[in-house]
Formats: sequence, C-alpha cells, structure tokens
Amino acid sequence: MALVSVKQALKDAQAGGYALALFDTYDMHATDGIFQAFEEKRAHAFIGLYDRFFEQPNAAANVAYIREAAASTKVPVSLMLDHGASFEQCVRAISLGFTDVMFDGSKLPLEENIAQTKLVVRAARAVGVAVEAELGHVGSGNEYQSFGAKRSGFTDPAVVERFAAETGVDFLAVAIGTAHGVYQGEPHLDLDLLDAIRRRVEIPLVMHGGSGLSDAQFRSAIEHGIAKINVATDLFMTSATRMVGAARAKDLSYFDLAHLASDTFRERCGYYIELFGEAGRVCPSWAATPGSSTRR
Ligand code: 13P
Repeated sequence: MALVSVKQALKDAQAGGYALALFDTYDMHATDGIFQAFEEKRAHAFIGLYDRFFEQPNAAANVAYIREAAASTKVPVSLMLDHGASFEQCVRAISLGFTDVMFDGSKLPLEENIAQTKLVVRAARAVGVAVEAELGHVGSGNEYQSFGAKRSGFTDPAVVERFAAETGVDFLAVAIGTAHGVYQGEPHLDLDLLDAIRRRVEIPLVMHGGSGLSDAQFRSAIEHGIAKINVATDLFMTSATRMVGAARAKDLSYFDLAHLASDTFRERCGYYIELFGEAGRVCPSWAATPGSSTRR
C-alpha cells in the first residue's frame, strides 16, 4: 500500500487503548521481516531508520527499498526518521519520502529544543508530515545506573504543556525510566510521572527503549497512556545470536543467514505487535478512506 503518515493511526491507538510499535530497520532483510510481521498481524506497519543509518552512503538506496517494499505490503505503512539530529536532516528525510520525522532535541537546553522543534514542525506540516519530539532525555542502557536509577533527565511535567503548545508537535517522546540498548540492572518505569504528563497534554505519548522491558511493564505503560513504543536492540541482538548459533552448521550459505535474520525480525516483531494490542487493528479510518493523505 501507499505510504501514509502515522498520525491518524496513532490517534486511533490512543483512543483504542493500545500502542503502535515502531521497529527500526537496517537493511532489506530486517525490512522484509518487519513488513511480514505487520502483514501477518494485520496491523499498521511502522518502520524507522536511525539518524546514523540515514547518514550512510547507501541511505537513499535503503529508503528506496523500504518504499518499494511498502508498495507491495498489504497494510498501510509509515516510515519515520528516528532521532533526527537537525532541521536539515529532517528536511532531507522528508524529501526522500519519509511520512513522519522525529526531531530529537532532548540534549539541547529547553528553549533551544523548543525553537528547533518548532522549525521542524513548520516545515513538516507544510507537506503533511507529522513530527515527534523528545522532552527530557532517554539515555543509554549501559549508563542506566547513573541516570535512570536516579531519575535524572526525566521529563518535567511542569513544562510539557508549554512545550506542546509552543512547538505544535504531533507526538511526544517522554523520559520516564526507559533507556536505549541493554539495561545495566533492572529498568523501573515511573508511572506516576507518566500519569502527570498524560493529564497535561492530549497528543500521543511515545516510549523509547522498549528492549529489555517486561510484558507487565509494557502493558502498564500502555494502560497509563503510551500510544507508541520503539523497539530495536532486541531485534538486532536476537538475530545476531541466532545467526552465530546457525553459523556452526555444515554447508551453511549466506542465504541461510539472510533468511534467518528476516525470520527473526518477523517473529520478534510479531510478538511485540500482539503484546501491544495492535494485531488486527489496521487503522479503521484508513479502511474508511483509502487513498487519503498518502505520500508516494
Ligand atoms: P531499544 O533499542 O532499546 O529497543 O530502543 C529503541 C528506540 O527507542 C529507538 O528509538
């Protein structure tokens, strides 16, 4: 199907009390597995590309592959730049056909984060692209004890309303105790903080750093108002572990490993899609108005 902004599907998820998974891809094998999972589970396909992969020489070819694969996928697809590092990078992503962009100004001082996010929103809105921003900072799991466990960098609920109103951002990533990558120690989610944020703004809230959380933590985050969850590390690590295991087999070929990578993405993504409650929920508004608000 054609590519479409995730905005309406996320609103539907928020209203329906489930969450959309965003899975980050790296290459065609990961992309194939991700799309197969969404198709099998009849859910809105949502795929992301990290800013650092967007800077690789093959990025345009990678994006062209994702878009071509999306065209033959039997569910609507949204493609988001994940952790866009600058206004310029977000605009380049939009020009390559991304339907949604995240601008990550979470390490900037508040006023600078607001100013930059506002600029990205203005450019994106002109061409129907939705924008995610981050308030507070979701750090790295390998440093979890020095920030997450101490609640450092968490989203300040007192500024959430102002941030949303001044930037006009469509979705907000919040720092409530998650981290990217492998957690050092146990992750703890601050659900009271999530409630406080939820009470202050209407826009869909996003949780980064999905890998390493328990099923119960995912469920309670969704119950407390998270509508989008990013998952990456688990997909790449589980694939790598399985590929290393398979590498010991005799007569192994490159094709076996490529297939195993796709299949692992398909299986792990399918697991999260079920867990987040989005299986079978292909955007009802999309079904009602096929072809609307598409970007080709
Ligand atoms: P993990 O790699 O920890 O799952 O986090 C993914 C993420 O938040 C991408 O934006």
